[in-house]
Amino acid sequence: MTRPSSTQTILDYTDVPRHVAVIMDGNGRWAKKRLLPRVMGHKQGLDVLENMCRVCAAKGVQYLTVFAFSTENWRRPADEVSFLMGLFLVALQKKVQTMHKNGLRLKVIGDRSRFSAEIQQSIVAAEKLTENNTGLTLTIAADYGGRWDILQAANALLKEGKTEITESDLSAKLMLPDAPEPDLFIRTGGETRISNFMLWQMAYAEFYFTDTLWPDFKDDEIDKAFQSFGKRERRFGRTSEQLPPEQQRP
Ligand code: FPP
Repeated sequence: MTRPSSTQTILDYTDVPRHVAVIMDGNGRWAKKRLLPRVMGHKQGLDVLENMCRVCAAKGVQYLTVFAFSTENWRRPADEVSFLMGLFLVALQKKVQTMHKNGLRLKVIGDRSRFSAEIQQSIVAAEKLTENNTGLTLTIAADYGGRWDILQAANALLKEGKTEITESDLSAKLMLPDAPEPDLFIRTGGETRISNFMLWQMAYAEFYFTDTLWPDFKDDEIDKAFQSFGKRERRFGRTSEQLPPEQQRP
């Protein structure tokens, strides 16, 4: 089943975003400011991600999707890439146990083929362990790119012999077909780019950018992002006057 599309229907109104997508940027700068190696910022970043999961679950968010490793991140120095792979394993093998106890569902999206056999097996095991949980779905985007996602979907349709495709055909083949489109996109670390993240799915996402570095993105900062979301008037192409009064914003 694919979820309603922001370009084909008017999405239901919700105070709390159903789906939050995050670019966790600024780990390297956080570490540098403390005269620590860059990778210590990533280590702290994983703890902050755990807190983000707790807070989002408590607020009633259903899906949290985070960009942990882009297709372009392979260009980083080999020792940093290898540290990030190690952290990914920690998340998949250790942190997943607590997530499971808390009822979270873990998913991984991206091209798995370039990861080690151990990572690939751990992804399958972590997804299987948590598949029947009904709490927040945490999706880790790893070796993921928005263009890659659209292309793999299009190629899957070509393989099925399709010569003409609809929006729903394509949506059904994208990563996370069952998730609602992200309502809120957060990027920490001061950059105001989408960096090839969920290009198709974020057609009508509300964007929130903050200078706060990811390892400092704790409860108060999460609240600020959600408050900002609560003030957005989501028109999906309509005029303000067409919205029900409770959805209009001053
Ligand atoms: C961007 O900061 C961050 C990354 C490329 C990696 C994000 C990874 C984590 C938060 C680790 C935990 C997640 C998992 C699931 C293993 P940057 O290094 O570009 O920071 P900078 O812009 O300050 O250099």
